Amino acid sequence: MSTFTVVEEQGVAVVSIDQPGSPVNILTAAVKAEFESLLERLRAEKAVRAILLLSGKPDGFIAGADIEQFVALPNQAAAEALSRDGQATMDRVAAFPKPIIVAVHGACLGGGLELALACHYRLASNHPKTQLGLPEVQLGILPGAGGCQRLPRLIGVRAALDIILAGKSERAAKALKLGMVDELVPPSLLRSAAMAAALRLMESGVPRRPRRGGLAGLLLDGNPLGRALVYRMARKSVLAKTGGHYPAPLSALEAVRTGMERGLRAGLVDEHRRFGELAVSPVSRKLVQIFFATTALKKDDGVAPGTATPRPVRRLGVVGSGFMGSGIAGTAVSQAGVEVRLKDADLVRVGKGLKASVGILDGRLKRRRITRQEYERLSALLSGTADFSGFPRADLVIEAVFEELSVKRSVVADLEATVGERAIIATNTSTIPITDIAAGAHHPDRVLGMHFFSPVDRMPLLEVIPGAATSPDAIATAVQFGRRMGKTVIVVADRPGFWVNRILSPYLNEAGHLLTEGTPIEAIDRTMTRFGFPVGPIALLDEVGLDVAAKGGGVMHQAFGERLAPADVIGRMLADKRLGRKSGRGFYRYQDGKKAGVDAEVYRLLAISPSDRVSPQTIEQRLVYAMLNEAAMAAGEGVVRSPRDGDIGAIFGIGFPPFRGGPLRMIDDLGAAQVVSTLRALEAEFGPRFAPAASLVAMAEHGGRFYDDSGSRAA
Ligand code: 3HC
Repeated sequence: MSTFTVVEEQGVAVVSIDQPGSPVNILTAAVKAEFESLLERLRAEKAVRAILLLSGKPDGFIAGADIEQFVALPNQAAAEALSRDGQATMDRVAAFPKPIIVAVHGACLGGGLELALACHYRLASNHPKTQLGLPEVQLGILPGAGGCQRLPRLIGVRAALDIILAGKSERAAKALKLGMVDELVPPSLLRSAAMAAALRLMESGVPRRPRRGGLAGLLLDGNPLGRALVYRMARKSVLAKTGGHYPAPLSALEAVRTGMERGLRAGLVDEHRRFGELAVSPVSRKLVQIFFATTALKKDDGVAPGTATPRPVRRLGVVGSGFMGSGIAGTAVSQAGVEVRLKDADLVRVGKGLKASVGILDGRLKRRRITRQEYERLSALLSGTADFSGFPRADLVIEAVFEELSVKRSVVADLEATVGERAIIATNTSTIPITDIAAGAHHPDRVLGMHFFSPVDRMPLLEVIPGAATSPDAIATAVQFGRRMGKTVIVVADRPGFWVNRILSPYLNEAGHLLTEGTPIEAIDRTMTRFGFPVGPIALLDEVGLDVAAKGGGVMHQAFGERLAPADVIGRMLADKRLGRKSGRGFYRYQDGKKAGVDAEVYRLLAISPSDRVSPQTIEQRLVYAMLNEAAMAAGEGVVRSPRDGDIGAIFGIGFPPFRGGPLRMIDDLGAAQVVSTLRALEAEFGPRFAPAASLVAMAEHGGRFYDDSGSRAA
């Protein structure tokens, strides 16, 4: 079965790309070969004077080169050859003697955009699904089919680096503004507008494009001295963002530089050499595993396939209009586009909550993620109430009231008396067992936990927690709805702390122990950001809120005993009314909402004299191994359904460095035996909290691993 079908109209060969059996078009070796031979045929056909390329998929153009194919490459030379071949195909497109026009609707990514860039004229539909981008660096590679060369030539070095180095995608309107596409049209007119362009180009050739960016464009993009400055600034910004852990953006920067300063040919050679190097690097392997894991999670409803009938959610009820409740309501409206009814005890609170929910839409409008029209439509879906009016029609209700078992139980009882008999009741809790909350319910089968992270609109993870009696239908409904809210969803067991807070707990405690021993706050946080976390543990405590951390720490201590006893730090901070960022005072100082350095007063308050006695290596080891050990222990208890879920939870929930693949992947990389022996050494020095998990010891004895894959699709 072929991917390309051709019809000829008025001298234009209209080529439709539709890869059979695949949900998206992907540039595999076979697709490329078929395309090349099609080009040869159309070159020879006298009646064909132009080519129009478009996708036969309803809402996707081309998702790039085949990621599975490059992961399976045996070595660097093979990866280099793959990139060289891709470049050669794009060169043939660019040099094709008849104009090639491309009409883009849907995702046009990686090799898909590189193909579009090689064409002579580009149109895009102004549909939100139309995204043009080069996400390669997010997979630890670089655009290797000429993208590092053609994009800067088309839109200028600054704009191109902005996209390539961040692995960004742009919506069609921005792509037009940048000059990535020549025309923007509504989806229904795309084909006819592209046809008109083809007929035009057939007669009058490819139009000249003006230089972009005005005077600054001329000064910075248009001459070598200006560009040298651009490269220097870009390098600095990449290093600041990646801490040097991710080689791909820096390598892509060099490939762009070579091409712009030494010519297209030299650039292409540098590009495929670097592609080869990166494609077989351990960092790329890890990032590709994460891509496959998140893709697999998009299809995983958290129950065995075929065992559940998820309920369609058209109306959502949210109880509690505080920070979490309003965040859930606003995110549900803006991402899932469902009707949301927000309830609180009085209308003043409800009003405040609705304002905060609309604030999420405001942000999306400001960042141009939605149009004014969409904004109006979505805001109208939000409503509030001080009683339960409207709730009987809800398909799903999420409660986000005060974190107290009796309060949550009474909300569940009120809801059971109000909502329809098939409605699902979810509780947003981070510390209270779901089974306890559901204990008094008449229908505990429809009660479960949905643990959102704060701020709800920005944090990508959702933990769904079935209680002892929760039905598969309820689980699948919550998982699917979480995904519609834009979340990556993992289903975790109803154990204290669930997954994310469980593995975070000993890590934060250890930071507290280090601090009480006199380790400076800066040293602790700097060590962990160098390890690859976005923020260090002490700064994280400030972000989470010290009152919340104290409560969570107390629950974990009670559940797991001395091993998870928090250091005596947070209580004293709270006694001094330091709640962290939200109160403007924590371990750090805050000025106008911005973090402004460690508050030296804290050392006095905690009666600590800071010293550099503990080395960064020891700081890192104590913090990281505390988390690895807990992750192994919780995984051994079945808190996560698979190592994949555990690692994705750690990466998306707490920013565990993606290039390390997650805590369980890291244990596999280090080897369980090595992890156990380091933990034993830490136990001897710092006490029984470092005693290795039984599951880890067993793995060390039998040479076991969490994953049995060889690094392609994650287990
Ligand atoms: N290679 C291989 N498989 C791919 C793929 C790719 N580039 N893009 C998508 N797929 C697969 C997915 O793994 C999934 O497979 P499955 O059904 O067997 O699980 C299937 O296509 C559907 O994908 P999604 O479930 O992710 O579909 P969505 O509609 O949610 O998203 C998408 C579509 C936005 C295109 C998303 O799949 C995506 O972001 N894909 C990756 C894009 C990318 O990174 N491209 C760059 C590739 S590298 C490259 O081009 C190198 C070049 O420079 C030489």
